[in-house]
Amino acid sequence: MAKPVTQFACTDCGAIHKKWTGRCDNCGAWNTIQEEVPLSQGPSRKALGTAKGRRVALTDLQTEEAPPPRTLSGLGELDRVLGGGLVPASATLVGGDPGIGKSTLLLQAAAAFAREGQPVIYVSGEEATAQVRMRAQRLGLGDSPVKLAAETNLRDVLTTLEAERPALAIVDSIQTMWVDTVESAPGSVAQVRACAQELTQFAKRFGTAVVLVGHVTKEGQIAGPRVVEHMVDTVLYFEGERGHQFRILRAVKNRFGPADEIGVFEMTGGGLAEVANPSALFLGDRDAPAPGSVVFAGIEGTRPVLVEIQALVAPSQLAQPRRAVVGWDGSRLSMILAVLEARTGISFAGLDVYLNVAGGIRISEPAADLAVACALLSAREDAGVPPETVVFGELSLSGALRPVAQAENRLKEAAKLGFTAAMAPRGCKTGDAGGIALRLLPDLATLVGEVFGA
Ligand code: TYD
Ligand code: MG
Repeated sequence: MAKPVTQFACTDCGAIHKKWTGRCDNCGAWNTIQEEVPLSQGPSRKALGTAKGRRVALTDLQTEEAPPPRTLSGLGELDRVLGGGLVPASATLVGGDPGIGKSTLLLQAAAAFAREGQPVIYVSGEEATAQVRMRAQRLGLGDSPVKLAAETNLRDVLTTLEAERPALAIVDSIQTMWVDTVESAPGSVAQVRACAQELTQFAKRFGTAVVLVGHVTKEGQIAGPRVVEHMVDTVLYFEGERGHQFRILRAVKNRFGPADEIGVFEMTGGGLAEVANPSALFLGDRDAPAPGSVVFAGIEGTRPVLVEIQALVAPSQLAQPRRAVVGWDGSRLSMILAVLEARTGISFAGLDVYLNVAGGIRISEPAADLAVACALLSAREDAGVPPETVVFGELSLSGALRPVAQAENRLKEAAKLGFTAAMAPRGCKTGDAGGIALRLLPDLATLVGEVFGA
């Protein structure tokens, strides 16, 4: 057998390199390359048997088969993100920063699932069973029939799972698990991959829904969840800003449902509470309308969400003025500033610009362009946008406004929350607009002239 050759793997994206480098060519991360002993090569090509290879024509497959039966986890927001509940024989990865609340979320889900009469095992590699029990008691779940195991050796974990055959198995976290066939330390790319592979295979073989927890890592000592994203069926990320109570569970990959769906939770003293109406929460502690503040009517997944966008513009002391963004894309901000300058002549040169999406949510929709432009203009001109108004629309480089999808849903959500007016691009399919007074604009110059009088 060929001697295993040492190789180097990026702990962030999992790319394999022949030599050590300071920066990963694949993902651009610094100091994430670690030495790995690769898995054995397997039998040589000559030794491969062909007798077991089997193929099936697509047309020969049974088509009457029902879609995968789903089991509701008992947490409505989690089920929504999963696309309608847990799918048996599937592997799901829940990633997030340490301390964001992954263990809390999954313990609550496990308890809710077990209460429905389904066998559930929660394998913790990070906490002793007594600690998990204490947490469960604090969450008021002390009496739920979840089985706990504190294991890190994957052989033991698989033996336990095979004996118990649970409907749901949670492994917290994948970075603490290790298999004895891989020589590197737990948390290395090779270990994390090998463990995820075995657990995924277990899920497929025994029909168990397996949920893996993965910590997002800041430095390259431990492999991050991205290393196993391609192996699992569903990838969810649990996000939130420190200092904010909101937590957002976001589907970034889902073989059984829509990606980009979000579930919103609030971290309370008694664990995570589901937030059925996120708009009310994000706008809940809104200050009195001030220049620079605009309410954006966005869509997250299938649900409309209203958020406040705040901008601050101040004279700069620096040769290169600051452009600081929280909750939005920095390069998109530069683009909007450039379009404003080129198409309306309003310049931000010599001014520091700060942009903040209130509430700790991150927006990636281009439909926020117009709201951002309004916030910037409003801060720059020290003029508020009309009160009780929501804004949405995409901006093109020519300064024209482009219609965006789901205008009617956005407007209905705004009407539900007491807004009476909206600014949107001309050409949006607004339906009956939920009774909201519409101001449909063709381009940025019209906005500047009509609304800001500049
Ligand atoms: P945890 O689920 O341990 O995070 P993770 O598994 O992602 O590392 O959550 C830890 C944080 O949650 C901790 O900072 C305290 C907070 N928390 C609450 O605010 N309320 C609670 O009821 C619980 C259990 C945790
Ligand atoms: Mg944890």
